[in-house]
Amino acid sequence: MTTGTEIQATEARYVLQTYKRQPVVFVRGAGARIQDIEGRSYLDFISGIGVSVLGHGHAALATAIAEQSAALLHTSNLYYHPLQGQVAARLSSLSGLQRAFFCNSGTEAMEACLKFARRFWYTQGVRGRTQYVAFDHGFSGRSMGSLSVTANPHYREPFEPLIPGVTFIAPEDTAALDAAVTSSTAAIVLEPIQGEGGVRPISPAFAAAIEAACARTGALLIADEIQCGLGRTGAPFYFQTLGLTPDLVTVGKALGGGVPVGAALVAEHVAAQVLPGDHGTTYGGNLLATRAALVVLEELMDRGLLQHVVTVGDYFGSQLQGLADRYPTLVREVRGAGVMRGLELTVDAAPVVEGALQRGLLVNRTAERVVRLLPPYVVTSAEIDEAVATLGAVLAGLPVKENA
Ligand SMILES: Cc1ncc(COP(=O)(O)O)c(C=O)c1O
Repeated sequence: MTTGTEIQATEARYVLQTYKRQPVVFVRGAGARIQDIEGRSYLDFISGIGVSVLGHGHAALATAIAEQSAALLHTSNLYYHPLQGQVAARLSSLSGLQRAFFCNSGTEAMEACLKFARRFWYTQGVRGRTQYVAFDHGFSGRSMGSLSVTANPHYREPFEPLIPGVTFIAPEDTAALDAAVTSSTAAIVLEPIQGEGGVRPISPAFAAAIEAACARTGALLIADEIQCGLGRTGAPFYFQTLGLTPDLVTVGKALGGGVPVGAALVAEHVAAQVLPGDHGTTYGGNLLATRAALVVLEELMDRGLLQHVVTVGDYFGSQLQGLADRYPTLVREVRGAGVMRGLELTVDAAPVVEGALQRGLLVNRTAERVVRLLPPYVVTSAEIDEAVATLGAVLAGLPVKENA
């Protein structure tokens, strides 16, 4: 049998080294638990960066995928199949945006939205309305277009020049927003909760300022809900919680429960300006992806999973706040909503992620000092207790000691 060490050696030899992986090889999972090749079980509080929302080894999802692969996997977008329309209709009723364009990842959903926003102005004969306003610490992907609206200079600089005309402003800075959004702005690109940026929700007051800037100039609003959308915060979308009315919305991650699929959700007034041939992809919305998406959406909306996120999400928030109160010197703030939470520390989060892994808990570090927690939606309150206890043990073992 191939060992974990051999697997890592083969990767080190042949796989392009763009990722810094944790030294662990996973082979199976059930619910919020995932098992490594040596048979050790871990509690998964990152769920493949917010993807495996139904948990691992979900019976209905596994059966649907198996049935679909036996029946028909792919036809391309040259032909109809029965599932795209069904998933699009469900996304439309959940979001209020009338139409969906299917693709294969979050990045592709953002690419599509950036193009559709420009197309909206171009079709109407408005030339030169091509610029975007995006936010410091924002992350929307790493393709040339989506990277252009991603803030981190570390990701951007080696690949410049990116697409021109993107202005970054600080979230919550209303004066900067009002100065940046003009009649040349095609669209504002906003994560309602910044994920990679450190689990930072936009305030309702700043959301209102964004709405006002769009109303004043006609700029479109693209809400990037790839990480915070589709039930993760307990609402179908976090833009709804903030009272925003985006013209375009990106979804990915949760949508396929682990099968790669993304979508750009498009309001009718924008959709009306997008013409056949403007955009496309071979795989987008194929039978495998849309069958998986249908299962996720059914679980979320028809089988009580969204309500479950509300309940466990509140509990999660209160338990994390309790942890923060016990370690005031180490934990600066608990942020987020539902089962999207960030623990901002006063120290680098890397040793906490490492210590949690050693104790059988998967979490991840983002924005240097933030421990990001994205458990599957099916997580139970007992599993939350276990995770919070593990984090407490890790914090207690850090060299920086609490006074208490
Ligand atoms: C808010 C946001 N936008 C876009 C992306 C890119 O999505 P993907 O990695 O599926 O291409 C991510 C991924 O982390 C994300 O969190």
